[in-house]
Amino acid sequence: MDVLAICGSPRKNGTTNSVLEPVLAGTGRSYEVLWPAFMKIGHCIGCQKCRDVTPGKCWQDDDMTAAVNKMLEAKALIIASPTYFGNVPGPLKNFIDRSIATCHTGKGEPWQGDTPGHGTRPFRGEPAMIVVISGGADHEKTAANIRLVLEYYEYQVVGEFVEGMGGYIVTKEESPDIYGELFSLGKKLDEVLKAKGV
Ligand SMILES: Cc1cc2nc3c(=O)[nH]c(=O)nc-3n(C[C@H](O)[C@H](O)[C@H](O)COP(=O)(O)O)c2cc1C
Repeated sequence: MDVLAICGSPRKNGTTNSVLEPVLAGTGRSYEVLWPAFMKIGHCIGCQKCRDVTPGKCWQDDDMTAAVNKMLEAKALIIASPTYFGNVPGPLKNFIDRSIATCHTGKGEPWQGDTPGHGTRPFRGEPAMIVVISGGADHEKTAANIRLVLEYYEYQVVGEFVEGMGGYIVTKEESPDIYGELFSLGKKLDEVLKAKGV
């Protein structure tokens, strides 16, 4: 699997998926979509056991165990999300918080920040994309929150689609322009991967 997408919407036929699908199609790559709202993911309790006791592993053996491995396996990441009160929905936030275990597997170079205890960066320089929609407002805030996470993990953000969509469902037939824009975004991800020899 080359591209891992995390779709934060709790609605499989909603706007978020309708904008994510053309991006994935545009990549022309093997991909997998994870849906945190339909996964068993306990929330992070901040115990730091994934750092201090069982490096890279959370004591909660739920669907995040496999998800963390998929993140490490993938060559590129797409985070797609609707806007809930200017942020990502709860299940996606739980996914993001639990993904902190990826900093403590020992894979990658040490974090370049200036405080200790932030582990290593297995995703440094890997391409990532942000796909965020809203009913009409505050999608930029949601995107900024996702950007923060991707920057912390030192992904290279190579493309974004951040729009208020008012509940619109994108289809190739009824919205060829937006579909084309999203498809091109996916193509760009493929080109970035090719340039990296992937
Ligand atoms: C709990 C909740 C909070 C929301 N907060 C916002 C918001 O802050 N700004 C906004 O423009 N839309 C907001 N919306 C609307 C959703 O972003 C919009 O309906 C979006 O299309 C949902 O994505 P989906 O179709 O993939 O489910 C909210 C919806 C819900 C259910």
